[in-house]
Amino acid sequence: MREKRVRIMKILVLNGSPKGEKSDTLKMTRAFVEGMERACPVDVRTVHVPEMNYAYCIGCFACKHNGGRCVLKDGMAEMLGEMLASDLIIYSFGLYSYGMPGPLKNFVDRTMPLSSWNMHRDEKGKYGHEYQYDVSKMRFMMICGCGYPNSKHNFEGAVRQFELKYPENAGIITVPESPMFNIPQAAQFTAPRIEALKAAGEEFAKNGKLSDETHKLICSPMIPEEIYAQFANGERK
Ligand SMILES: Cc1cc2nc3c(=O)[nH]c(=O)nc-3n(C[C@H](O)[C@H](O)[C@H](O)COP(=O)(O)O)c2cc1C
Repeated sequence: MREKRVRIMKILVLNGSPKGEKSDTLKMTRAFVEGMERACPVDVRTVHVPEMNYAYCIGCFACKHNGGRCVLKDGMAEMLGEMLASDLIIYSFGLYSYGMPGPLKNFVDRTMPLSSWNMHRDEKGKYGHEYQYDVSKMRFMMICGCGYPNSKHNFEGAVRQFELKYPENAGIITVPESPMFNIPQAAQFTAPRIEALKAAGEEFAKNGKLSDETHKLICSPMIPEEIYAQFANGERK
């Protein structure tokens, strides 16, 4: 009789928060991944990107003409290998100046060797360099928290950048008021959200996407924005 092999989903979490393990967003990401594990076996590696101290891309484009090798020798090649071997890459970060924190942006720039010089125009008219490695199994997810209570007039830049960078196979979760995840007194509001994120992770692992309803629920503010602002401003205890 043939043995049935269970496929293990390899997940790479790129924690872009300079706060490392104390990241507000990482709490959400871990809940999402825990939910995924309910649906399928996972092998998770978490990398605290700002602690890796990668040099920034120097823009030489050598990687585009030499088969995808970076001239900078600092361990990023190992990370590119890790990305290529992963089924899901989660960019987890708190919003910084309406975008991703600097160290994570450096990391994204350093993924340049994955693509060749050839430019390709998609059906929407968007140009992008063609990949020179096999990226067919890679999927991407952005999980982003932020300190303000509003999503509109706040997340748009980061969301658009991610959509343009990864136009295919990408999911995006944005959650406002995320410092609440590190405030024990806010547990009555954050605990249900953590459970919702676990359920969303399970749904994502089963269906490969989130329903509009689930997405709306997990991306909504946990408390009304005026009340959050009053707490933040010390006008309410
Ligand atoms: C330099 C800096 C810039 C920030 N910019 C924004 C911003 O543009 N919008 C926002 O809502 N919050 C902003 N915040 C707040 C963070 O997004 C918030 O504290 C978030 O919970 C941090 O997530 P993390 O703990 O995962 O790093 C900023 C924080 C810092 C330190």
